[in-house]
Amino acid sequence: MGWFICGGKANKNAKKLHRKQPDDINEAKQQQKKKLDDQIPSSSDKIKTIITQELKEIPRPKEGGSDHIAAHTFTFRELAAATKNFRADYLLGEGGFGRVYKGRLDSTNQVVAIKQLDRNGLQGNREFLVEVLMLSLLHHPNLVNLIGYCADGDQRLLVYEYMPLGSLEDHLHDLPLDKRPLDWNTRMKIAAGAAKGLEYLHDKANPPVIYRDLKCSNILLDESFHPKLSDFGLAKLGPVGDKTHVSTRVMGTYGYCAPEYAMTGQLTLKSDVYSFGVVLLEIITGRKAIDNSRAAGEHNLVAWARPLFKDRRKFAQMADPSLQGHYPVRGLYQALAVAAMCVQEQPNMRPLIADVVTALTYLASQKYDPESQPARAVAGGGLSTPRARRE
Ligand SMILES: Nc1ncnc2c1ncn2[C@@H]1O[C@H](COP(=O)(O)OP(=O)(O)OP(=O)(O)O)[C@@H](O)[C@H]1O
Ligand SMILES: [Mg+2]
Repeated sequence: MGWFICGGKANKNAKKLHRKQPDDINEAKQQQKKKLDDQIPSSSDKIKTIITQELKEIPRPKEGGSDHIAAHTFTFRELAAATKNFRADYLLGEGGFGRVYKGRLDSTNQVVAIKQLDRNGLQGNREFLVEVLMLSLLHHPNLVNLIGYCADGDQRLLVYEYMPLGSLEDHLHDLPLDKRPLDWNTRMKIAAGAAKGLEYLHDKANPPVIYRDLKCSNILLDESFHPKLSDFGLAKLGPVGDKTHVSTRVMGTYGYCAPEYAMTGQLTLKSDVYSFGVVLLEIITGRKAIDNSRAAGEHNLVAWARPLFKDRRKFAQMADPSLQGHYPVRGLYQALAVAAMCVQEQPNMRPLIADVVTALTYLASQKYDPESQPARAVAGGGLSTPRARRE
């Protein structure tokens, strides 16, 4: 037996996983209970004070962090005006925690995306605080920018920069007939950029940040397909000192969470690398992480891909059919090799995200001419047992 994938329902509102943890993890968690947990404000007007206090205490990122809350506070009235009272035709999408609307701020004329949390329970409130805290501290060209938030009464809204091309998911799966599939070069550019965002969280932020929710719908695209990671409500400040993991309730999204995290609740930077590998596989194959409409044995992308990694003749079969053979054979081989390393069962065999960035930046720099002859299958062999730098 090899590995185990997080259980859970795959429907939109139930796709976040909240699992019971074993007793020992529970105990460890009790001991480590962070101040933030105790401070979920009962009244919304305390939110700004708490955010300000927390920001003072959290160490600064090594690079690019700011010392103040850059995020602006908005009134509910301003955001209602920006979205014409949350008009249905301004709706951009909906996730597990609420609806996202396009809006225009009267004060600056800026076009923004406004996420309205529809659950004011403990979890929603906590994620709201974590999102504001994280995005106030972390700044990088591959992370979405938080413009501000609103915590009027029971309302919890987040205001982000607007990303005109939506999410990577919108460009990979269930494409409407009038939408062109992504070409190979754009796919590699998105993969490299997303990896750089993750590298910033893992290697530049201090303490490191474990993202925990890497998936295609959380990779947003600007007008030139430049990718930015979004949704930090689940992010965790990573292990400090000699520790290699933090213990937490298992949360994440079906199909993306690493087997050891699903089984033990032990979260490491390598759990994010696994999720990145699943995203990279989706980018290469055009398949969803979980797709129950496919034939038996093909529902889970990683389970489908693992045997194919062993046989080079199958690689062409793994490329997204919508590419119609327009990809560089060598580039496909190399991208699959990176994905195979990231989704290895043993966390310490997975590469560091910095190594993934190096490989994908190289692949993204190799501009493939989409007008060239479509690729044909290559002969023989498979991916030799991929070796990665150990932790
Ligand atoms: N800043 C943004 N600019 C443009 N569109 C956005 C922005 N943020 C979110 N969206 C759109 O709204 C959709 C819903 O986003 P949301 O983060 O709420 O849910 P999700 O990522 O699909 O699921 P989950 O709640 O599990 O994270 C996204 O898929 C995207 O299409
Ligand atoms: Mg999201």
